Amino acid sequence: MQVIKTIAQLQYALLTERAKGKTIGLVPTMGALHEGHASLVRRSVAENDVTVVSIFLNPTQFNDPKDLERYPRTLESDCDILRECGAQIAFAPSVKEIYPEPDTRYFSYPPTDTVMEGARRPGHFNGVCQIVSKLFLITDPDKAYFGEKDYQQIAVIRRMVEALQFRVQIVPCPVIREPNGLAMSSRNSLLTPEERAIAPHIYRILSESLTANKSVSETQDWVTRQINAIPGLEVEYYSIVDGDTLADISDWEQSSSIVGCITVYCGNTPIRLIDHIRYK
Ligand code: PAF
Repeated sequence: MQVIKTIAQLQYALLTERAKGKTIGLVPTMGALHEGHASLVRRSVAENDVTVVSIFLNPTQFNDPKDLERYPRTLESDCDILRECGAQIAFAPSVKEIYPEPDTRYFSYPPTDTVMEGARRPGHFNGVCQIVSKLFLITDPDKAYFGEKDYQQIAVIRRMVEALQFRVQIVPCPVIREPNGLAMSSRNSLLTPEERAIAPHIYRILSESLTANKSVSETQDWVTRQINAIPGLEVEYYSIVDGDTLADISDWEQSSSIVGCITVYCGNTPIRLIDHIRYK
């Protein structure tokens, strides 16, 4: 596996492959790789001739500097994981390489980027669109792989791809969970053993809500109350939304695709955990 740090080197490597008629899969990451990322990389390796995995802790999508500061940085072990998965290229540029000058581009795809995380983390999805669009422009991939763990992020990126007419095919990949149901996330490594013990209740309660037989608003209240009843967990929001537009729904018959998206504060630090469940 090649570890490439500059855009010029990456583009040279990819031009050479493309000239041979090879297809390119891109897996954008911020590092601190876990089994969830590995599943995306393995899928890209199976579906493309060349897989590029970007490892870039993108500062423009962090609205809280403390969150950026404590985000885990594990480049060496990340590269070991990527070698095991069969990736051909790890692209690990510096911040200066990606942003030689401030990125002043502004992206706006309401309601996908204004609800839920968009409302609570101002500028977050703008930063995601800045980096993902740069990665698409740099690598011109045939397919790009994103984990459904960040359900809202995929909806925003799909809208950006449509609006900017990128030729890339977005491939959403299922959430990978610990055996106890906790969605795998780079932030899980920040949880204490006590927090790890309570965090799985989030998905347990979401799963139980599938058979609760209640109206949309009753389900929202029920999930929120059940989770808040567990010491150490506090729901920031639980929204039941259309699975494509992410607009709020009030009736189960309102859409053929319905998803519940949740953010929960866990522990004293606290760590912000996100998850979702599909109702239909
Ligand atoms: O999902 C992530 O890890 C990031 O938001 C992404 C897509 C790599 C952009 O920095």
